[in-house]
Amino acid sequence: MSPMKSMKKKIVKKVVIKKAAVKKSINRTTTQSIGRLGTQRPKTFYITTPIYYVNDIPHIGHAYTTVAADVLARYWRTQLGADNVHFLTGTDEHGVKVQQSAERSGVDPQRFCDEKAAKFQEAWDTLDISNNDFIRTTEDRHKKQVVWAWEKLRGATTPKGKPCLYEDEYSGLYCVGCEAYKTETELLNGLCPDHKKEPIHLQEKNWFFRLSDYTEILRDYIENNIFEISPDSKRSEVLGLINQGLKDIAVSRHNVRWGIPVPFDQTQTTYVWIDALMNYVSALGGRTGAEYLKFWPANVHLMAKDILKFHAAIWPAMLIALEIPLPKKVFAHGFFTIDGQKMSKSLGNVVNPDDMVKLYGSDASRYLLLSQFGFGTDGDISLARFQDIYSSHLANSLGNLVFRTISMTEKYFGGAVPAPSSDRPQSFDLATDWSRYDFHVRNLQFDEVLRVIWDDVRACNEYIDQQKPWELSKNEGMTDTLAHVMYHLLETIRHIALMLLPFMPHTSEKILTQLGFDVSKYLQKPMEELRVWGGLKEGQSLLKGEVLFPRLETR
Ligand code: MSP
Repeated sequence: MSPMKSMKKKIVKKVVIKKAAVKKSINRTTTQSIGRLGTQRPKTFYITTPIYYVNDIPHIGHAYTTVAADVLARYWRTQLGADNVHFLTGTDEHGVKVQQSAERSGVDPQRFCDEKAAKFQEAWDTLDISNNDFIRTTEDRHKKQVVWAWEKLRGATTPKGKPCLYEDEYSGLYCVGCEAYKTETELLNGLCPDHKKEPIHLQEKNWFFRLSDYTEILRDYIENNIFEISPDSKRSEVLGLINQGLKDIAVSRHNVRWGIPVPFDQTQTTYVWIDALMNYVSALGGRTGAEYLKFWPANVHLMAKDILKFHAAIWPAMLIALEIPLPKKVFAHGFFTIDGQKMSKSLGNVVNPDDMVKLYGSDASRYLLLSQFGFGTDGDISLARFQDIYSSHLANSLGNLVFRTISMTEKYFGGAVPAPSSDRPQSFDLATDWSRYDFHVRNLQFDEVLRVIWDDVRACNEYIDQQKPWELSKNEGMTDTLAHVMYHLLETIRHIALMLLPFMPHTSEKILTQLGFDVSKYLQKPMEELRVWGGLKEGQSLLKGEVLFPRLETR
């Protein structure tokens, strides 16, 4: 039984959801280091995820990065307009690993890739991922660019004036799981530490890329933040690696059938990482494509730390050789384990996004993934905590706040927004703390952003408990105070809904609809206008709707 299905069984048994108060753990300030570009406003925004290997099925590790990228894309659309944001994801379909998986399932590799790539597309649909494009490395538009890159590299010279490419004999180790060359020192008891498998010994003639000649230029670009690596801890790791001196790498493979042929050497196909990295440019139509001209250089390449080395050393060196500007930033988030263990097929603890969405819904799944731990750090995901967080943060705190505020407005004011008095209670300053919100989103501190929002949710719930509208309603002389209290609650909920938009788009829209807005028109307005306090107008009719987060046992 899948981990999610067994979780569902447990939930069904648990009839009463604990009325857990919002945890005091909500910590309002942050001392985390900020990205150097964190507060700047670009003209366009291009964000990418890694392209995922099709030998695997989509799991919540892939979903974690993709949801985070989606939040950023949705956020920047509210800032720059939808046309000025480009969000790319896709699948990595060549190489030995995919070839072997296809062989094992007895399917032609292209058909195998078609089926698996569709699984990723479906997974992203269920999670409401708003990618503008989905690139597959077996598409012609991509192959064409890889061929272009080979031809260009063939005539290129390094910063030290030597040819970028040369032929040599590779003799060493290769981990098929990583699709990467390994040195003895990278192994643990002779095994690849990630795949727990012995690498194969390779001896073959290949094309090499003279990466060693890029050591100094890359160090310079990274140290001067021309090419930004974030968070800082990862930047230091990369600089440490570069300071040891980069080694030349084999960029073609002999006898690997499932790859893009090297145009000038039919005995070789493109090393899968060189093929894969090019996706970020080929999806834009290559160096002359209209999308390239509009969106390149990428603002953020997002990934986990496992593949940072490829993006922070090989990719920028390749780009310099190809005379393509470097991406502005590479951000490597942490890796998570599930209930303390690495997610793996053999342990049977792989959680797929579909099961999670069936259980919690898409918006809640997005929240559960991003609220667990700091985005740049490693962490653990506890499936049991998912239920508690769903109940306490979503159903009890946010869901209940919206439900009771709207119900009380119906009861006391016939469902129309009451008039506020001019002085505004101090407790609502939180809701307009958009600068704190912007700061954390732009620095990819998603758990912090969610804390900013939940501070508001908690403040509203506490305000209701202090003001006791049900008591004010019994006293005719207090009608103005009651109107004032209800207005401020409703207006803060409007701000909360706007803040939630990139994270939980359906919930955000449902709340705005309940506040009486015609969402499709309302969200067309510029965000700066929507963020102004007082946007909720007196007399607007509320529209009580469905419960935002149904009890788990009824889902
Ligand atoms: N195909 C390469 C990437 C090429 S990009 C030019 C690849 N694919 S992968 O399918 O293995 O995906 C790795 C990525 O999946 C990680 O960098 C991360 O974005 C995501 N994650 C997979 N498992 C994860 C966790 N357990 N925790 C966090 N992120 C995870 O590498």
